[in-house]
Amino acid sequence: MSKVLLGLVGETNVNRSDPDSAFAKVKPLLDRADVLFGHLETTVSNDPSENMRKEGIIDLPFKQGWVHSKPEAVGAWKSGGFDAVGGASNVSGDAWSTMRVIEELDRLGIKHAGLGENKAAARAPAIVEKNGVKIGFLSYTSVFYPQFVPALVNRPGAATVKAHMSIVPSFRSEEMPGAMPAVKTWLDEAEKALMLDDIAKLRPLVDHVILSCHWGVSDAEKVQDYQIELAHAAIDAGTDVIIGHHAHRPQGIELYNGKPIFYSMGNFAFDWWFVRNWLKEGIMAFVSFENGAIDKVSFAPVHRDEGNDVASLSVDSPEGLAVIEAVRKLSAPFDTKIDVVGGEVVISR
Ligand SMILES: [Fe+2]
Repeated sequence: MSKVLLGLVGETNVNRSDPDSAFAKVKPLLDRADVLFGHLETTVSNDPSENMRKEGIIDLPFKQGWVHSKPEAVGAWKSGGFDAVGGASNVSGDAWSTMRVIEELDRLGIKHAGLGENKAAARAPAIVEKNGVKIGFLSYTSVFYPQFVPALVNRPGAATVKAHMSIVPSFRSEEMPGAMPAVKTWLDEAEKALMLDDIAKLRPLVDHVILSCHWGVSDAEKVQDYQIELAHAAIDAGTDVIIGHHAHRPQGIELYNGKPIFYSMGNFAFDWWFVRNWLKEGIMAFVSFENGAIDKVSFAPVHRDEGNDVASLSVDSPEGLAVIEAVRKLSAPFDTKIDVVGGEVVISR
């Protein structure tokens, strides 16, 4: 009899003078999990970057206003009790920062996926063993500038699964110029094949495979076609759970062949000044595994409080109920049922 409760959180960014305080208010919730994983959406500053900042130049050449965290910030995930993190995102980079984050995670004993000194290392899994159960994590970003973010054969960076898009004019566009066009998105076949290969290699090494996907459109509730394409293909290839992030707000939850897809978890801890008083709601997912199978899927609503600290929301509070209702509405197109049972938000079909 082997039982493990996996806890998963979305976007985490820590940039504060006391990093140990970042997860302090939500620690009882984090401590419920036997294995804890989150998406690391941060990079750390280097000396040239510090100098650039003094001159008013931004930390990432492609993201106006982005501010790297300090290397000490990585200690927050240790204090929070994270066993592993996924690091592939649109703010991964530069090469120096990627290696510096990896150095800190390794020093603190936090496993990581999605970042590496080269392409093979970035695509390698993080494997955590608890109660005799092995859980493997893979991390990818589909949101990135190809010039800066992807790990290459000879460049540190992030693991990617590229997507493409096209604009499809409305069938009334000739008659009615200005009619809203549709957006179509799909996965790059070569990068999709690489991801499926990663999953196939990991599958025999572990009891459960978890995919962490940085994807979609920020501040959007709509799930893009390619997210569904990626999630279904990954589950067909043996993935058990998918968590998504980048939208900074919760999106719908799908149970596909009994495997949960959290299309976007929303922000968890997030200190970057641009979203400091904005997009405060998120969820923490729990997946209970028993004897090699998924036993229960649930989530807990969270928000960031006046001090920008992530904190639990009671499922009976107006704020907690608002998050649950929003996720319920967004999950309805996937025929997902969301019920509050004994203080837990339980997901079923
Ligand atoms: Fe992002």
